[in-house]
Amino acid sequence: MNKDEKPSLSRRRFLATSCGYAAAAGAGLCAHASPAAAKAEKEAGGNVNNNSRNATEPFWGGRQGGIVTPIQTHTYFAALDLTTMDRGDVVKMLQRWTSAAARMTSGQTAAPLGKDITVPGADSGEAQGLPPSRLTMTFGFGAGLFVKDGQDRYGLAAHRPAAFVDLPKFTGDQLQDARSGGDLSVQACADDPQVAFHAVRQLTRLAYEAAQIRWVQTGFTANYGGRETPRNLMGFKDGTSNPSIHDARAMEKFIWVGDEGPDWMQGGSYLVVRRIRIALEHWDRMNVAFQEQTVGRHKYSGAPLGGTHEFDKADYDATDKDGNPIIPENAHVRLAAAVNNDGAQILRRPYSYNDGANFTAERWPPWRQEMEYDAGLFFLCYQRDARTGFIKIFEKMSKLDMMNQFVTHVGGGLFACPGGIVESGFIGQRLFENA
Ligand code: HEM
Repeated sequence: MNKDEKPSLSRRRFLATSCGYAAAAGAGLCAHASPAAAKAEKEAGGNVNNNSRNATEPFWGGRQGGIVTPIQTHTYFAALDLTTMDRGDVVKMLQRWTSAAARMTSGQTAAPLGKDITVPGADSGEAQGLPPSRLTMTFGFGAGLFVKDGQDRYGLAAHRPAAFVDLPKFTGDQLQDARSGGDLSVQACADDPQVAFHAVRQLTRLAYEAAQIRWVQTGFTANYGGRETPRNLMGFKDGTSNPSIHDARAMEKFIWVGDEGPDWMQGGSYLVVRRIRIALEHWDRMNVAFQEQTVGRHKYSGAPLGGTHEFDKADYDATDKDGNPIIPENAHVRLAAAVNNDGAQILRRPYSYNDGANFTAERWPPWRQEMEYDAGLFFLCYQRDARTGFIKIFEKMSKLDMMNQFVTHVGGGLFACPGGIVESGFIGQRLFENA
């Protein structure tokens, strides 16, 4: 805080506990939770929310929060387009964003509130009185930061990493321009939807002169207080086979960019986002056994077909008495599993979305035309390299997955999320200073 500024009317007083900024290198792993919740979370695979609304997640450090952070119950994601042609404006905006995000993740207003009510407030105010709710803010750079419409607007073109490819058009893709791409991404995750929205709203306020919203998406996940893997809108547990966020070696190997990447991406990760609409009306008419064949897991226990418990190992060689595979050849989990993809792994951080209903012409019998839910999965996954992560895994799934008859990818993007932020630095600093 600047010495001239008055102490803000802050949300910090509501903190029961706080990690502070210090444990930043292990970003995401130190939100305070009760021992019972921590134990339950560990038993449930370690990647699920612990719903500690009074806890904070670290902001500063070698890695950004919101990637290996146990998933919070709500997200607000925004992709923005840069409108300025001036590199200095971009840097100024990123500096303002960093300062505001550091304050908000620690439970404060975006900037200290002044006393002068004849000017717009430094914070829109709707999160005051709400606990920090483990807010994290994760920043990503889109391809347009480097080159847009053939123009190198900010002198960064030569610094686009080789791993930062354009996603290919996959079979079945119906991506809408209005829900895809963006020069920058900001993802707020929190155990309170208003805290998450508030956080992104403050950043878009600070961006008025340099960037504008391209598309946004809200998401939520089932809240079991960390005791169970959350279920998605298909009613299945989603996240069971994720690599554990507590397995540092797996995270190094599959999620964090290492010294193969440019300095500014080291300790960062690539984010693939897909807005995937699920034809819930169609899915709900299927018998449960068929749903289970589609996913390759039992609906109620979450166990792989042929298994009993959620975390039983899937046996892809097992056959029934007629010699048919117990887990069908085109079941979702068979096609997605690391063992069937040369060991490829991604860290999924999926949220459900529900954007009401709209008029839909079905692509499947009985080809009804009526109001249907616009709901599904807001699929987010992190990886060290999208070529060996999402692209490698999804290439085959997009063609063969039995689930494809129920789901349509309607939006998304690929964003390079730089390494974390040293205290008093700003997001992406190493890119701008070395370019
Ligand atoms: C609406 C779309 C989707 C739904 C409803 C869905 C649902 C599920 C479910 C229920 C599971 C089993 C539980 C688990 O291990 O998490 C699963 C596993 C998985 N899914 Fe998806 N998924 C969707 C899209 C995708 C996409 C686009 C990918 C892209 C790569 C993907 C990759 C995976 C992977 C890697 C696994 C773990 C497989 C294993 O090792 O057993 N999913 N998904």
